[in-house]
Amino acid sequence: MTTIAIIGAGPGLGAAVARRFGREGFDVALISRNHERVGGLSADLADAGVTARGFAADVRDRKALEAALDAAAATLGPIEVLQYSPVPHKDFMRPVLEIDPADLVGPIEFSLYGPVTAVRQVLPGMRALGRGTILLVNGGTAAVPHPDRAGTSIAFAAESAYGHLLHDTLAGDGIHVGQLVIPGAILPGHPRKDPAVLAEALWSIHRTRHGFRHFADDLDS
Ligand SMILES: NC(=O)c1ccc[n+]([C@@H]2O[C@H](COP(=O)([O-])OP(=O)(O)OC[C@H]3O[C@@H](n4cnc5c(N)ncnc54)[C@H](OP(=O)(O)O)[C@@H]3O)[C@@H](O)[C@H]2O)c1
Repeated sequence: MTTIAIIGAGPGLGAAVARRFGREGFDVALISRNHERVGGLSADLADAGVTARGFAADVRDRKALEAALDAAAATLGPIEVLQYSPVPHKDFMRPVLEIDPADLVGPIEFSLYGPVTAVRQVLPGMRALGRGTILLVNGGTAAVPHPDRAGTSIAFAAESAYGHLLHDTLAGDGIHVGQLVIPGAILPGHPRKDPAVLAEALWSIHRTRHGFRHFADDLDS
């Protein structure tokens, strides 16, 4: 059996994706900074019949992220699907005229260096498997920058460019790269932005394997 590694796995989208892929037989590696929280989430998933393990890493700590992904593959089995979806810190969302270069360090480490580190760590395993899926999840500022959320807008643009390049470059190797843009907030009970509906959309991107960017909802919603 293969593994989905969810980087930035919390009780919202992370848990919903874990359940959706778990239902299809994937083992699930949950990665976030708080080991207790991902441990608790793993126990909840076990109750639902899903094999899951929690691994602690801050995505801004490259060595820790690499070690967590290695431990996940060693414990659960090869990583076929990588989802990068940590929720950005609110400090990254500052007005464009108030930021200086130092303010961009966090967003860039979080949204660019993190995905680059994670992808480089899992690619050899995906190549060995002969297949793989890389899923990037972003807010609406990935598509339309917002002047009051400069850090995420700028860093999501870089992440999007990286993902798009990977999409084009890895397609011939059986590795699909897709991005889900979620405009506005994730809203339990919403017909398009409930976590379970978004998890279904990510499952569909993994299964249908076409196109890079997908929208969970209309951009002005
Ligand atoms: N929530 C929204 O309204 C919304 C709207 C649009 C798009 N999105 C996208 O949806 C995804 C998140 O979904 P969600 O909000 O439902 O979150 P979630 O899956 O419930 O939790 C995400 C987890 O990310 C982890 N995280 C934050 N910073 C991290 C770091 N530096 N290193 C490692 N892990 C980190 C946090 O756990 P720890 O504290 O344990 O690290 C958090 O529990 C993100 O891709 C976000 O861009 C969310």
